Amino acid sequence: MRKRVLLATGGGDCPGLNAVIRAIVLRAARERDWEIVGSINAFDGVLNEPNEIVVLTEKEVAGVHIRGGTIIGTTNKGGPFAWPIKNPDGTWGEADRSDEMLRRLQYLGVDAVINIGGDGSQRISQKLFEKGLNIIGVPKTIDNDLLATDFTFGFQTAVQEATTAVDKLITTAASHNRVLVLEVMGRYAGWIALHSAVAGGADVCLIPEIPYDINLVMDKIYSRFHRGRGYAIIVIAEGAKPMGGEMVFEKSTEVGYENLRLGGVASKLIHELKTAGLETDMRETVLGHLQRGGTPIAYDRVLATQFGAKAFEMVLQREYGKMVAYRHPNIVSVSFTEAISQPNFVDPTSDLVATARGIGICMGD
Ligand code: F6P
Repeated sequence: MRKRVLLATGGGDCPGLNAVIRAIVLRAARERDWEIVGSINAFDGVLNEPNEIVVLTEKEVAGVHIRGGTIIGTTNKGGPFAWPIKNPDGTWGEADRSDEMLRRLQYLGVDAVINIGGDGSQRISQKLFEKGLNIIGVPKTIDNDLLATDFTFGFQTAVQEATTAVDKLITTAASHNRVLVLEVMGRYAGWIALHSAVAGGADVCLIPEIPYDINLVMDKIYSRFHRGRGYAIIVIAEGAKPMGGEMVFEKSTEVGYENLRLGGVASKLIHELKTAGLETDMRETVLGHLQRGGTPIAYDRVLATQFGAKAFEMVLQREYGKMVAYRHPNIVSVSFTEAISQPNFVDPTSDLVATARGIGICMGD
């Protein structure tokens, strides 16, 4: 009888997910007796009634590596340990359906699971592994905030999008003598902001790891304008905050969504600059999900393909309870415990921050 590997993609989507799926299917096709199936919308496909499981062959994955998103869907709500349920009074609660999920996987004849997702998904992987599931993790996030791996796929594509936005903003800012503020994603990490600010040649880069002093941002802007002429580009990470201040976020009201929703920091910064006396024209651009959608760049396709092929090899070696990781120049495996132990934040004393400062980018401090 053929052995079955079930794939799930969980959390926010990310360019390169389809390249991982394709690589797993193509690598498995080199072995005789393996079948790959996908669970639709993370583990919801296993838990829904009727279940939503699709068989993935070379035919289904042909050409998908160039497509953004995920062909098996994803969700960043709920999950087997916190399944949203409606109480009789209309409020929402949570149920732990993990035992039921393990029974369902057994019934489906699943021998191993590959869970492709960020830190939240890998926490679920760890808990499922502790319950006895044969599970392997593949890290993904545009935020690049997992310490266990040098890079996650999707990050470079997001940086490319943000850099293209900086390039475009420069021409319009210069024409109108304006200060243009670009808000980029990254959650609590400033990687996308820092890389795109250096690549695009921004004047100011504000990241969560370095709280900013509005007066120093003002000084930098003044230095860029001479007799009212000039322009300035500010790249700000969605999680950036002023010294002694807070991030801009709201608690989502979406059922099962547990993350804070960051956003709005660019408009807050403009307000702070106006209050501090800056009279120049200012506008904000919030790049949002354009950073997550669309075609992965070549770098991310290569990394995603390496991750997928390695994940299937780990299944063959029965290296369960581990996540694939990139440690230049190798693709290695690390335990889930190590994978989720620490986030990867920008080190304010790192070489890249020094480079940014060295070419005159104001980091807000
Ligand atoms: O973690 C990836 C990410 O895109 C963050 O950069 C961002 O804060 C968040 O997800 C947005 O999530 P959602 O899909 O809920 O809009």
